[in-house]
Amino acid sequence: MSVSASRRTFLKTAGVAAAAMALPVSGQEASDAPAPRIVAGPYLQHVTPDAATVIWVTDTPCLSWVDYGPTPELGNRLQNSRHGLVDAYDVIHRIRISGLVPGHPCYYRVTSREIALFEPYRVDFGGQVEDAVRQFAPPLPEAGRTDFIVFNDVHANADTWARLHALAARAPFDFLAVNGDLLDHIQDHGQVTNRFLAPGAGPLDGARPLVFVRGNHEARGQYARRLPDYFDTPGGGYYYAFTRGPVHFLVLDGGEDKLDESNEYFGLVNFKPYLEQEAAWVAEQVKSDAFRQAAFRVVLCHIPLAASNPGDYRAPIIDALNGAGVDLSISGHTHKPAYREPEPGRDYPIVIGGAPDPASATLIRVEADPAVMRMQMTLADGTALESREFSARRA
Ligand SMILES: [Fe+2]
Repeated sequence: MSVSASRRTFLKTAGVAAAAMALPVSGQEASDAPAPRIVAGPYLQHVTPDAATVIWVTDTPCLSWVDYGPTPELGNRLQNSRHGLVDAYDVIHRIRISGLVPGHPCYYRVTSREIALFEPYRVDFGGQVEDAVRQFAPPLPEAGRTDFIVFNDVHANADTWARLHALAARAPFDFLAVNGDLLDHIQDHGQVTNRFLAPGAGPLDGARPLVFVRGNHEARGQYARRLPDYFDTPGGGYYYAFTRGPVHFLVLDGGEDKLDESNEYFGLVNFKPYLEQEAAWVAEQVKSDAFRQAAFRVVLCHIPLAASNPGDYRAPIIDALNGAGVDLSISGHTHKPAYREPEPGRDYPIVIGGAPDPASATLIRVEADPAVMRMQMTLADGTALESREFSARRA
């Protein structure tokens, strides 16, 4: 297949240095070639009151863009470029939409065009897939409430994903946090796409954000080092902070569950200094206005931040959280649902979600207004396991 003049022009004029750049909406030609398929997403990442990152995965290398606007008619078009090059010939597509109006709907549609041949002096485009128009609303900074859902330790169980999502859909929520060990390990792209993102993020319909919390199993396997390509977070790492309504969140990375020198890791992990850096970051975060002035402070960390064994790399993080006014820490990892009251060495409660199989998997729902935060943990069939209420307090 040859490249039409207009397609060449489209590609050439796309070369500016901005991370996300506006493009003319017109000028895209249809093709009779077979369309690529979107195999995961689009899903929302790093959503703030005025911006959001849209990510999706196609089954073949593509050039991609997003159309968006305040109405279903859209009207604006963005591509992403880095170092002067338009993102192209990749199967993972990520574009950040900014300049949104808090609380107002943003309609968007992602499109990917196959690049069948990408040579230095010839590019052949193939078919094109145009997704449905989707919609989300960036949150109001002054929102008075938030409702969110937490799953953990799904370990690639498709039935568990389906049952938990079905239960979650019974009531509205603002975002889903996936609290680690969604896979057994990260061995290849297909595993991330087909066993995690498609069943885990797909049911969110690109309308509500997916908040990713890394588990220790997401640190295992040859492809683990590519996992950040599939996510966008404040700061770009696995530990970060954000606020939704009356709740300020610290998303933490608990690292691995054994010491770096353990035989299982073959000398290929280096969590000790990483978790020391993270603990220093936490110590600064708890001094921030966003943390101190929030009605509630919630920590998400896959491995429970509990009193630990000597040498536990997470001990400095626990020290940094003690005395800071954390209302609730939410974890997984043990595969044993539990609620642990504060104890010597830890001044915050921990709720721990359940196991991978559908009969013992759990959904944790948290609802917060400026006065009260309610947490309920249920099995996938809706059976209640734990329920707690927390009253707002301030530093
Ligand atoms: Fe784990």
